[in-house]
Amino acid sequence: MQRLYVPATVANLGSGFDVFGVALNLYLEVEYREAERDRFVYEGDGQIADSPNNIVHQALRAAFAEVDDQPPPLEIRVFNPIPLARGMGSSAAARVAGAMIADRLLSGRLGLEGVFRVACELEGHPDNVAPAVFGGFQLALSQPLIHLDLPHPEDLFFVLAVPAFELPTSAARDALPAEVPLSDAVFNLSRAALWPPALAAGSLELMREAARDRLHQPYRLDLMPGAEKALGKAAEFGAPAFVAGAGPSIAAIFRGDPAPLAAIFDEYVGEDGQIFTLSIGEGAKWKAT
Ligand code: HSE
Repeated sequence: MQRLYVPATVANLGSGFDVFGVALNLYLEVEYREAERDRFVYEGDGQIADSPNNIVHQALRAAFAEVDDQPPPLEIRVFNPIPLARGMGSSAAARVAGAMIADRLLSGRLGLEGVFRVACELEGHPDNVAPAVFGGFQLALSQPLIHLDLPHPEDLFFVLAVPAFELPTSAARDALPAEVPLSDAVFNLSRAALWPPALAAGSLELMREAARDRLHQPYRLDLMPGAEKALGKAAEFGAPAFVAGAGPSIAAIFRGDPAPLAAIFDEYVGEDGQIFTLSIGEGAKWKAT
């Protein structure tokens, strides 16, 4: 039996709004088998009904449509440890999973590039999809569709503070202004340009500067009470810290002991939230069980 593993992802890394993303070692796990009709069996964070309109089956159908074909009815079983609607790429992982199943049934006709293309068309956020498909740190553009691996050290870890409340990406995008001051655009351009060399050098000090953002976080932080204070404390402690994707989770990068950052983030997650300590994840893969 083969099981598919698709990583959680964190987009933006602060300054790289809609451009950078990283895979984390928390994996959506998926199995499938042919069945009389489409079935969706979900276990994990939240609840998803057994309906043929789930986003894994939708991506499966969209991927088959790329080659003018239709999938057979499938029972898809999912175990999902990735918190839903928290900025950790749960929907990108689900769409990549559907396209990966299609690619397997089509004997690799789509390839990972085809999986990336189909999932981006559905998801609209290549900065989550690229690391979900290819793993590690990725730079991704949607027009034209490009993804590039960013060389990075393997000994970086992430503390993720995941509050109990959900924040749909659409609401977090609605909070953004249509225009930003030129000085803010230049601020972000310089910080985003710092990410690749900061990662290549493995310098947390450079990454801390690279993570600073004026394009989206200042507007979104109003939707995440307590996040600004927690991010400020993490930066004072010396960690690169940013909103995870569109939020409401926040993330900090560290080496060594996660306890001080976990303590800094504790107040933000409150009693019902969760703290994850994760390493860099691999891209989507089938593995024998
Ligand atoms: N780059 C997107 C955003 C990611 O920040 O809205 C959504 O997960």
